Amino acid sequence: MVALNKFVIKNSTMKSIVFCALLVFFISGCYYDKAELTYPATATTCDTTAVKYSVDMVSIMNTNCNSCHGGTAAAGAGIVLSTYAGLKVYGANGQLLNSVLQNGTVSAMPKGGGKLSDCDINKIRAWLNNGMLNN
Ligand code: HEC
Repeated sequence: MVALNKFVIKNSTMKSIVFCALLVFFISGCYYDKAELTYPATATTCDTTAVKYSVDMVSIMNTNCNSCHGGTAAAGAGIVLSTYAGLKVYGANGQLLNSVLQNGTVSAMPKGGGKLSDCDINKIRAWLNNGMLNN
């Protein structure tokens, strides 16, 4: 009797083993992904749904165009694109879009620089299509 008892696993011991096994199972099954790390925003994300003159257009023009078309600079051949009124003239006559599309109908812009990103061009297009709002 005594010798046999050594090999009998006590009920409480068994419970502990099962508990530990479940614990390991749950902990290992429990990791989480951060959405922004698992699905990083791609470079192609471009929001053209809420393009604003005061935000998007001013920013695109300041970054790419106003060093020459800022009004006082002689490098812009007298073409002023740093004001709403000035930009609207070239938006309305089609030269703004054609120049950045670099399609050969007017001088390719930005002069001497690389072509604007597709996102910037699409924002300009959206601003034109929305009626060139001063918003
Ligand atoms: C380095 C100076 C410079 C920069 C930067 C520049 N332009 Fe120009 N732009 C000129 C000059 C000079 C002209 C006069 C035409 C020519 O010489 O090609 C001109 C002409 C234009 C015209 C009239 C089209 C034509 O054929 O004359 C438009 C529209 C225009 N630019 C838009 C832009 C836009 C939009 C940007 C920014 C994306 C830009 N430009 C950046 C120098 C510049």
